[in-house]
Amino acid sequence: MTNTSDQYIHGYTPAEQERLAMLNRLLNDRCRKVIEVNTGDKILDVGSGLGIFSRHLARETACQVIGVEKSLEQLMTCLQLAKNDGESGLVEYREGSAYALPLEANEWNTFDLVHTRFLLEHLKDPQTAVDQMMLALRPGGKIILIDDDHVHFQCYPPVAHFDLLWNNYLRSYDRLGNDPFIGRKLVYLLHQASATNLQNDFVNFGSTSDNEDFIFFVDNIREIIVQAESIIVGQGMIDEHTFEQGIQALDRFKNFKGASIWYSIHVAIGEK
Ligand SMILES: C[S@@+](CC[C@H](N)C(=O)[O-])C[C@H]1O[C@@H](n2cnc3c(N)ncnc32)[C@H](O)[C@@H]1O
Repeated sequence: MTNTSDQYIHGYTPAEQERLAMLNRLLNDRCRKVIEVNTGDKILDVGSGLGIFSRHLARETACQVIGVEKSLEQLMTCLQLAKNDGESGLVEYREGSAYALPLEANEWNTFDLVHTRFLLEHLKDPQTAVDQMMLALRPGGKIILIDDDHVHFQCYPPVAHFDLLWNNYLRSYDRLGNDPFIGRKLVYLLHQASATNLQNDFVNFGSTSDNEDFIFFVDNIREIIVQAESIIVGQGMIDEHTFEQGIQALDRFKNFKGASIWYSIHVAIGEK
């Protein structure tokens, strides 16, 4: 079943696009380490968003990269960012859906690597998207799925009300038909799509107060929770006062010495 009524929980506001760009700065080098590519490979990046990781791959590996993104708004910003960085044309971006990849007849079965990151958690029917990705892949090519499993998030020392905020953020996620626990399912999705040589891995998405980027890791979590306020508070999951107290506690956490965030991103790798 192909479901086109997905709601992208984060939306496309300038603040969200800035968060996504920041997330790319925090994570791209870390994710790159789990992606093996050969120079000249043909890569398909599905749900490419602002296209920053697609460009990272193309720049670092001298590969031909095509990014597929369903939102025109996201694509416009993506093209502007590439232009600002003097990298227009480094990646070919196409508007289209992961459920029906915008490929020419002679492009199916040809990609050396098909990759997606932080897409499947937003789809009501992730299996159809993975099946499409497998169809794009050449025999012997690799498919890499990277996504969240929100159960892993921990911070220490404890942040007042944080567990309440986080658990209700997760509830807001599945209320929109998104899956906060997709990470653990990635290998099985590959298996269902007949991928072989299945492997799994983690990318560390944590940090400590001794790293300059620590506040940005906290800000990323803060921003996604604040974005969901209208659902969390609006639907009565938490009262407004408790929500505000939790956010203020998270702000104070940025300056705690010895503080740490523990979080990891799930990686599943298979072959066709
Ligand atoms: C969280 S962003 C991740 C972007 C990028 N992969 C990254 O890691 O920076 C998810 C993106 O998937 C896009 N998306 C959502 N549903 C899609 C679909 N059915 N087909 C293609 N893209 C989709 C959203 O518009 C959004 O830009």
